[in-house]
Amino acid sequence: MVSKSHGYSDVLIGLQYGDEGKAKIIDILSPNYDIVARFNGGPNAGHTVCTEKGSVSLRQIPSAIFHDSMLLYIGSGCVNSISMLNNELDQCEALKIDLTNRLIISGQVSIIQPHHILLDNLLHEKIGTTGRGIGPCYADRALRMADGRLLNLQMAHLKENPEECFAMMRANLQETQKRYNLPSDAGLEELENNISGAKRILKFIAPDPLTLQRLVSKGKNVLFEGAQSIMLDVSRGTIPFVTSSQTTVGHAYVGGDLSPKHHRYTFGIAKAIMSRVGNGPFVSEYGGKASEEYCATALAKGINRETESRDDAVKLLGSDNSLDIAKGLRIVSAEYGTGTKRPRRIGSLDLVQLKHAIHQNSVDYLFLNKCDLLGAFRHTKKGKIPLTTGYITEKNEKIDYVPSTQHTAETLKPIVEEFEAFSDDVSHIRDFEKLPQALKTFLNKIESETGSKILGIGVGPNREEVVLTQALTLK
Ligand code: IMP
Repeated sequence: MVSKSHGYSDVLIGLQYGDEGKAKIIDILSPNYDIVARFNGGPNAGHTVCTEKGSVSLRQIPSAIFHDSMLLYIGSGCVNSISMLNNELDQCEALKIDLTNRLIISGQVSIIQPHHILLDNLLHEKIGTTGRGIGPCYADRALRMADGRLLNLQMAHLKENPEECFAMMRANLQETQKRYNLPSDAGLEELENNISGAKRILKFIAPDPLTLQRLVSKGKNVLFEGAQSIMLDVSRGTIPFVTSSQTTVGHAYVGGDLSPKHHRYTFGIAKAIMSRVGNGPFVSEYGGKASEEYCATALAKGINRETESRDDAVKLLGSDNSLDIAKGLRIVSAEYGTGTKRPRRIGSLDLVQLKHAIHQNSVDYLFLNKCDLLGAFRHTKKGKIPLTTGYITEKNEKIDYVPSTQHTAETLKPIVEEFEAFSDDVSHIRDFEKLPQALKTFLNKIESETGSKILGIGVGPNREEVVLTQALTLK
């Protein structure tokens, strides 16, 4: 039994392919909670939090760092890089944010070792991973040991015996160098960075596995911050083009080290214009395979935000070529990777996929970001906002569900419904009733089709550029 004085926990997840703008919504919701906690992923996530105090690019530390009284918890479902944690702590220190007694890292977080990064870059190019060692680290977690070497090194090992931990890290690195015929200095710099950076993080490692549970039992409220998103889930996403952790709501209560008895609400975040980084199916993508290929090879060809922005976005949006439309939308919506800087693949909102994610996770409340950018569709030849409402299969059959295999998903064509575009600048609007009728009609369609209440919409990149449909003090 959970006592009456216990706290509650809510979970916020991304509903599409990542990068839905979760950090901004977490920032807005934060005053309702005492703790923001991560339950999956590692430095593959990335969000820049901007406030008047300055901005930080966080990958592993939960996003509520600017709320001084909040605790930040990294759960056992995560994998962490010691060197990148140091980088994040440096950024916090530069802004005079002291995380002593605020940041708690579960002792069961697995450490991303130098050989994981080498392996990720050797083996996972086709998936288009972030190259941060995520997959190999989760794989070693499951493998546990090999030839007497401990593969899954956890934060608790580091705390207990740093020297032994580094010796095992070195042995694992040497084994990978040998197996893949790599030079003897491969990964050494990362190893040195881990050794020199470890001391600084020891004080953040939780004393025992019940630390978060105890805080909630004493009345603290938690918001779980999902990393990556539903379609990137390792077992239920668009396999194999997924990340290596679980992203669905239930997993917050596995990787987040808390009993599910405390669960209250599930928040889902989506974007009105979708994006995807890395390879894999994306039915509503502008430019299809050509766009996937363009984005996958862009960085190597020197294409990035700066080079693309030299083009005239409005002109591109009026083109007949869907690759140009993608580029135009990417420029106006600034869709470039926070961590990797890759141009993101762009597509119109896919209602079939959104309903799938909402239904799978029983999302109570929905936030739809980037609604201001729907106005950009007035510059297209059709001048309408597209919405994917069904799919056509290779056999010319209509379906209204997300298929289970990559092959089928990659052969689908979208069925598109069109909505009136609007020309008003909505970024200054804060009252839902004052939004253009065309946007309200679009939002009503989303709400009625998904059965999930829209709690807020994003009308600009800044924290305050949100239109709420009700107060956020949800009781
Ligand atoms: P990994 O997580 O680095 O193994 O990458 C696997 C796939 O997930 C790749 O397509 C990545 O681009 C994607 N991915 C991982 N993290 C994120 C994220 O935070 N946002 C969007 N895509 C991500």
